Amino acid sequence: MKKAIIIGGTSGIGFELAKILLANGYKVGLTGIENTIIQDLQNSEQNNLEVKYLNCLENEPSKKIKEFIEIVGGLDLLILSAGIGNLNRNRGFDAENKANQLNVLAFTEIADYSYRFFENQGHGHFIAITSVSGLFGSCVAPAYHAAKSYQITYLEGLCQKARKARLAGKAIHVTDIRPGYVKTPMTEGKKMFWAATTEKAGKQIYKNIKNKKEFAYVSRRWLIVAMLIKALPNWLLIRV
Ligand SMILES: NC(=O)c1ccc[n+]([C@@H]2O[C@H](COP(=O)([O-])OP(=O)(O)OC[C@H]3O[C@@H](n4cnc5c(N)ncnc54)[C@H](OP(=O)(O)O)[C@@H]3O)[C@@H](O)[C@H]2O)c1
Repeated sequence: MKKAIIIGGTSGIGFELAKILLANGYKVGLTGIENTIIQDLQNSEQNNLEVKYLNCLENEPSKKIKEFIEIVGGLDLLILSAGIGNLNRNRGFDAENKANQLNVLAFTEIADYSYRFFENQGHGHFIAITSVSGLFGSCVAPAYHAAKSYQITYLEGLCQKARKARLAGKAIHVTDIRPGYVKTPMTEGKKMFWAATTEKAGKQIYKNIKNKKEFAYVSRRWLIVAMLIKALPNWLLIRV
C-alpha cells in the first residue's frame, strides 16, 4: 500500500486530496493546526488515515514530519498544501512576516527535507501547491505573490535535481501545482472568477500527480492566463 502525507491537509485543497488518495488505496497521514478538526478526524476512525497536529511555524517541522513518517509506516508521496493567504488588508510587516515564515521558511525546510528523504530512499514524489499568483507581483497582496514566486522558482530547481536523479536510476518526481482560484476557507468572501470547486481542483491535481507532471495549472483554463502573463512585457505587466 502506498503511503502519502499531506501537510495542511485538514481543510480545503489538502483535505480534498486526502479523500481522493484514500479512495485510491493510499494510506494517508494528514496534518493541520485546528485541534477540533484533528480531534473529529481522529474520532472518525477512518481506515488508513492518521492525523497529527503540526504547526509549521513551530521549531523544525521536519523533525515532526520524520516522526509522522514512522507512524504512517513509510512515505511515497508528500503534498505540501499548508499556506497563509488573505494578506490583502495592508496588514504590515508583522502579518506578512508570519506568512513568510510559513510560505517561505517552513516551505523550504519541508521541501528540502522531503526531497532528501526521497533521494536516500531512492524513490518518491514531492508535490507543492503554489499559485498563479507567483507569476506576477500585486499591490493587493505583495508578500503572498512574492512568496509564491519564490516557491515556483525553488520547485524549478528541485525539478532539475529530480531529472538528474532519474537519470541516475532513482524514481524521484517533483510537481508544482499552480491553482488559480479554488473555493476553500482561504478564499471565503473573496471576489473571484473561474473559481473551481475543491472537488474539481482535487480531481485535476490527482491526475497531474499520477502523470508525474512537473507543473500544472488548476483548473486547466488558468494556463491561458499564465501564458498571457508570461507574454506581457514587464513594463506593461506592472501596469495591469
Ligand atoms: N484557494 C485558492 O484559491 C488557492 C489559489 C492558489 C493557491 N492556493 C494555495 O493552496 C494551498 C492550500 O490552500 P487552501 O485554499 O486549501 O486553503 P485552506 O483550506 O486555508 O488550507 C490551508 C491549510 O494550511 C494549513 N495551515 C495554515 N497555517 C498553518 C501552519 N502554521 N502550520 C501548518 N499548517 C498550516 C491549514 O490548517 P488548518 O486547516 O488546520 O487551519 C490548512 O489545512 C495554499 O498553499 C494556498 O496558498 C490556494
